[in-house]
Amino acid sequence: MRLALLGCGTVGSEVVRLLHEQSADLAARIGAPLEIAGIAVRRIGRDRGDLPVDPALFTTDPLGLIKRDDVDVVVEVVGGIEPARGWLVEALRAGKSVVTANKALLAEDGGSLHDAAAEGGGDLYYEAAVAGAIPLLRPLRESLHGDRITRVTGIVNGTTNFILSAMDATGAGFAEALEEATELGYAEADPTADVEGFDAAAKAAILASLAFHTRVSAADVHREGITEVTAADVASAKAMGCTIKLLCIAARGADAAGRETVSVRVHPAMIPLTHPLASVGDAFNAVFVEAEAAGQLMFYGRGAGGAPTASAVLGDVVAVSRNRLAGVRAASESAYADLPVRPMGEALTRYHISLDVTDRPGVLAAVAGVFARHDVSIATVRQGPAGEGAAGRGEDADLVIVTHVAPDAALAATVRELRGLDIVRSVASVLRVEGGA
Ligand code: NDP
Ligand code: HSE
Repeated sequence: MRLALLGCGTVGSEVVRLLHEQSADLAARIGAPLEIAGIAVRRIGRDRGDLPVDPALFTTDPLGLIKRDDVDVVVEVVGGIEPARGWLVEALRAGKSVVTANKALLAEDGGSLHDAAAEGGGDLYYEAAVAGAIPLLRPLRESLHGDRITRVTGIVNGTTNFILSAMDATGAGFAEALEEATELGYAEADPTADVEGFDAAAKAAILASLAFHTRVSAADVHREGITEVTAADVASAKAMGCTIKLLCIAARGADAAGRETVSVRVHPAMIPLTHPLASVGDAFNAVFVEAEAAGQLMFYGRGAGGAPTASAVLGDVVAVSRNRLAGVRAASESAYADLPVRPMGEALTRYHISLDVTDRPGVLAAVAGVFARHDVSIATVRQGPAGEGAAGRGEDADLVIVTHVAPDAALAATVRELRGLDIVRSVASVLRVEGGA
């Protein structure tokens, strides 16, 4: 089985190392030896340390490598949309099997890759694209195919989970926690894709596509990052027995006409400390799947890093190699349900709203009236003496309101109107709440 490796960076170099160290076992598991036909990189002269590979295998011509007749499997660990899309479409149309970790490409245009795989008859596997080492996509696309998945809730970005966990543990603000994440090598020099939620949104699109048999792209995902999460938000969550996580949530639901839909979103949310995802700390990932017959399932592990990601890549390489030797291919893309994706405004969410209000008769009634006007039901209200700044004046109060579930648009409109009330001195924090009763 001859393999073309595109990319030899953090993940690719670990793929090379594992292929070398485990060659005998891999050959036994596949039923044929695995050999590297070539490795495409950008800089041929880059120092690659003591990588156990013949330097003659390196090339800067990925397309030439893919087109070689002696290449059976193409492994893409370069990343980005182009030129990776062109390479993989070319490989798949030519009947090669493809293994990729490229979540950005799959979320942007997975459809083109699946179409090309169907045309060429090879396999397209991408276990490493979501949650790194965690076996998650294969369970969704195979093991749970007899069931009906209702909801997937995940922590799928390690960088932001590290930052939020640090804020929770130390009371630090976002900037300080990001600095620590950068120093420790968790956050990249440009952390935008992680902290603004783009990385998690790409993974959410892939998970939703598999869970709901529907093509969902990154553009369908409502996305909010964690840059606006403050130390005060984290303290508010703690006071409620909660913690804040950047969640990706993909859920089935129905629209106003009763048609089945899906909603897919990424945003920070408060979850109770009793929720299984609350204890997922540091840079770990975890995904909580709810299915009608299986009930609740939890997948946990390392979502990034060279070796963990290479483990998932190699698992796919073994699977597609076995299929090729047996002359079969895995089940093709399952997108038959083709469910419409509901806009965020229609997603059902709950809000936790913390207000600094004037403390005089009628204020609570006026605030409650705003919720009522937007048909939002209040679950709990807690009033306490005003916090720092207003302390001692005796004329302000802190009001913490948690709502029942309502359409997100109604909750957002409620907050907008509250901000305009003269009895509301400030809206100190607004967070969605997930996973509670
Ligand atoms: P790196 O940046 O470490 O490596 C990228 C590799 O691609 C390098 O070897 C680079 O060559 C090569 N490359 C870049 N551009 C070209 C080009 N135009 N032609 C040929 N080769 C090129 O990336 P990672 O290993 O971190 O990530 C690879 C993929 O895996 C991405 O899709 C990423 O999203 C995904 N992934 C990564 C995880 C991680 O923890 N790192 C986790 C999960 C998924 P050169 O060596 O010469 O610079
Ligand atoms: N930047 C990603 C993370 C890497 O922090 O989880 C894995 O996709």
